[in-house]
Amino acid sequence: MSRPPLDALDVSRIRQIDESMRGHVEELLRSTAAGADRGRLLQRLKGLDSDMHHHFEMEEQGGFLDGALAHDPRLSAMAADLLRQHPMLSHDLKQLITTVENAPAEPAWRATFAEQLHGFINRLVEHERAENRLVQDAYHDDIGEVD
Ligand SMILES: [Fe+2]
Repeated sequence: MSRPPLDALDVSRIRQIDESMRGHVEELLRSTAAGADRGRLLQRLKGLDSDMHHHFEMEEQGGFLDGALAHDPRLSAMAADLLRQHPMLSHDLKQLITTVENAPAEPAWRATFAEQLHGFINRLVEHERAENRLVQDAYHDDIGEVD
């Protein structure tokens, strides 16, 4: 199995995600590329898990999607889809933690982990982008009606 190149993930896209999660994500990418020990990876993964949990909780408890939907109820199906991604992303991150916790002594697990990590970060970034886009669309249409 070949290790995915680090540039497979466009690092500039990470700016799309919340600041509380970005530090963990950047450090995870650096640590993974540098072959950091499992303890360090686990610490960062658990930090990201905790930040992501709080971030999702804020969004779900009457967060910014509600404001956007009040402006444009037509986007509600898309918003519901995005909120359904939260438990899936949480599950993916828990899987990554399990991968590192159960990693065998030989280094072969690192290639799988790097691949899974990049896939997860891409999904997380895409999720956040879609939410931001939904909010922009809701207000953009609103402004359009005023014009
Ligand atoms: Fe979200």
